[in-house]
Amino acid sequence: LAWWPLLAGALLLLWLLPWASAIHRSDFPASFLFGTATSSYQIEGAYLEGNKSLSNWDVFTHVPGTIKDGSTGDTADDHYHCYEADVDLMHSLGVNAYRFSISWARILPKGRFGRVNPAGIAFYNDLIDSLLLKGIQPFVTLNHFDIPQELEDRYGAWLDAEAQKDFGYFADVCFAAFGDRVKHWVTFNEPNVAVRKAYMLGTYPPERCSPPFGSCAAGDSDAEPYAATHNVALAHVTAVEIYKRKYQSKQKGLIGIVMYAAWYEPLTDTPVDRLAAERALAFDAPWFLDPIIIYGDYPPEMRQLLGSRLPTFSPEERRKLDYKLDFIGINHYTTLYAKDCMYSSGCPTGQETTYALAAVIGERNGVPIGPPTAMQTFYVVPEGIEKMVTYIMKRYNNLPMFITENGYAQGGDGYTHVNDWLDDQGRIQYLDGYLTKLAKVIRDGADVRGYFAWSLIDNFEWLYGYTLRFGLHYVDYRTQERKPKSPALWYKDFLQNLHEAH
Ligand code: NOJ
Repeated sequence: LAWWPLLAGALLLLWLLPWASAIHRSDFPASFLFGTATSSYQIEGAYLEGNKSLSNWDVFTHVPGTIKDGSTGDTADDHYHCYEADVDLMHSLGVNAYRFSISWARILPKGRFGRVNPAGIAFYNDLIDSLLLKGIQPFVTLNHFDIPQELEDRYGAWLDAEAQKDFGYFADVCFAAFGDRVKHWVTFNEPNVAVRKAYMLGTYPPERCSPPFGSCAAGDSDAEPYAATHNVALAHVTAVEIYKRKYQSKQKGLIGIVMYAAWYEPLTDTPVDRLAAERALAFDAPWFLDPIIIYGDYPPEMRQLLGSRLPTFSPEERRKLDYKLDFIGINHYTTLYAKDCMYSSGCPTGQETTYALAAVIGERNGVPIGPPTAMQTFYVVPEGIEKMVTYIMKRYNNLPMFITENGYAQGGDGYTHVNDWLDDQGRIQYLDGYLTKLAKVIRDGADVRGYFAWSLIDNFEWLYGYTLRFGLHYVDYRTQERKPKSPALWYKDFLQNLHEAH
């Protein structure tokens, strides 16, 4: 009878094997950064504390009807007060980096027209010091969608070249205050998404809409998104120039930009859909990356379609573009199909990428491209990360890359008890799949140097409010209690090489 427990153990192991992960921390370079990511508006709360002024998102979310569940980021995860506990969560995961963003309205409540706010500086100093004490490197985004409302009210923010000066000033203040300890800077998070939603679809503040997208009023201009892009791109290079001229040799940090980068597969194996997928890709990350990295102009695929509606860079602006960025950040979540809308009919109107004359959709003949998630446009397609990294690597000559976000949305019906959120098998499968493909593309030669899971904790998911949960940790928004979901333990074991191999 003594062999019984052994047999039972062996059977249990056999049963577990198909689910056991084969991916380990040791499959990545030793210097690789592993972390989680968040952003200021989505987690901080304390929207009127410490002399902070209103941001554009504070003003926007207070307008009834803008956010799905009627919520705001007024309190969010109350990270402003709970940051030490949140650093402890990271420490217990065993990560060595943390990506977060700085609230511009906390540091410069009136932009460059007022004083630097000492309470804002103190908050981020305390956060950075707590991280470093626990061996966690701060990876800092200067702008993750939220800007002081003052800049919107004074001159229309990104529609005016003034914004370049304000952003440069803000960046300078941050480099001077935090650059002794921050070695990775990101100028902008997903400017491609921000501009598309704020100036094309009109769904993010300042809700500017460009025909033929969304439901635009007569007289809305279709040049605005491209003018805003130009100012953001130049604001980015302004900050890069300041960092490289004034700080980099002393502080020895790196500076980059983060783009939203979905992968697109042709809907059908036809030349027109293959071209549509190429266009959808080029109108996404390269929209900003081409001009600031290599060409000094917008992607040829865009120029061809948009002609003179796209601004050009003056010789003086081009000179600034010579201050090269050090890395590309990729926020990769999903893969979608692209369907041609240039030569074919039957395309949906008002959809985001119809601007590339390509419709992007998640299903082919009613069959989804991968397991769906609670975020309507996000499907689980691990191969996508390998293809996207390869695309960026080839297009930009293997410039160092970080996966600055990658994550899975929970939500919808079927969550009646807190345990339903905590037992989060979908996210485990997601992380396992994407990390496996990421390790492969690195083995194949891609210079990817870090990975950040979105997100450390459930948080305010923009237009969806608190209805979608992306956290490795569950947040009870009434008590602010955090609880690890099953993938938090999975990530921790992964980082310690504890997973069973297949
Ligand atoms: C990317 C954005 O940067 C982040 O703010 C957002 O919460 C996630 N995607 C999930 O949609």
